Amino acid sequence: MDSTPSNLESSVSVPSVQELAFQGPEKVPPRYIRDEDGDDIIGTYPSDPSLRVPFIDMAKLVNADTHQLELQKLLLACKDWGVFQLVNHGISNTSLKNMGNQVQRFFELPLQEKKRWAQRPGSLEGYGQAFVTSEDQKLDWNDMIFLKCLPIENRKLDLWPQNPPEFRETLERYSEDIREVTISIMKFITMSLGLQDTQISESFREGLYDIRMNCYPPCPEPERVLGIVPHADNSGITLLLDCADFPGLQFLKDKKWVNVEPIEGAIVVNIGQIIEVMSNGIYKAPEHRAVVNKVKERFSIVTFCYPSPHMNIGPADMLTGEGNVAVYKNLTHAEYFSKFFNRDLNESFLDGLRI
Ligand code: OGA
Ligand code: NI
Repeated sequence: MDSTPSNLESSVSVPSVQELAFQGPEKVPPRYIRDEDGDDIIGTYPSDPSLRVPFIDMAKLVNADTHQLELQKLLLACKDWGVFQLVNHGISNTSLKNMGNQVQRFFELPLQEKKRWAQRPGSLEGYGQAFVTSEDQKLDWNDMIFLKCLPIENRKLDLWPQNPPEFRETLERYSEDIREVTISIMKFITMSLGLQDTQISESFREGLYDIRMNCYPPCPEPERVLGIVPHADNSGITLLLDCADFPGLQFLKDKKWVNVEPIEGAIVVNIGQIIEVMSNGIYKAPEHRAVVNKVKERFSIVTFCYPSPHMNIGPADMLTGEGNVAVYKNLTHAEYFSKFFNRDLNESFLDGLRI
């Protein structure tokens, strides 16, 4: 390795997990094994099949007759879970399927072809892996392509695949559709917090939309690896499209890992750390992870939605004062990201933002 990046925005290059899986090994290489040297993540918490991530129906939020009841459901979903499955959000099943197909076709290309859009030194964007900063770090069982999609000026088109041929236009369309859903659901999320103005939700109109497309290849020892290590997202909110028909994504609820059952046409929405800060901790960014499978490949398309860079990241005025003390600092967008990319991976990022 010729250089060690100084912060987490860049990634050390590591082998493709898909290529590794193609070779059909009986055992997983040690760098992916999580159950050694005290790193016992799998099995730490029991899973509970009776728990189910709540559903929120956007059509009921919009309809005057059902609005109040559904808003109450949304409040509980955000407070108790930090995640829900959103249905009737307005993006057609066909569009979602199209996007899923394009991503699957991209990952099915030969490695050399995918590498045309590989990450460059010093940047997370492109095809590769995220947050690998040292040669001895444990690795996720996952390949990804990460692209900044909105605003349009942020696109680095030289990293946007031209193969499959419809990839770019499908992603362009998808990111615009996701932005519309984000503005609408943010309007209801802030409403559920009792915030009367639409400043926060409207700030997602000029927001940033970064899309991470994940491929989780089959794994010979799935119980010893993680697709993605437990984490909370640093976004405002995250909208995830699960392209599989079996679970892989899990959220931590009352110290139990709960599977998210993929539902055709639904979008999984979770609270990110920015909304945790803006809600002054009333809503929490939930811990989640991805587990993998012995026989089936899984794809997911994850959009990290951020408010406009002009928006400060701090507790909303209406939620502080008169007996409610602000528990988080107020930061500019730039300060927030600088702290995030220079954080200590062994410490909680949000704890560092507490007053
Ligand atoms: C992420 C994430 C989970 C998944 O990319 O931040 O949590 O199921 N992904 O792909
Ligand atoms: Ni995540």
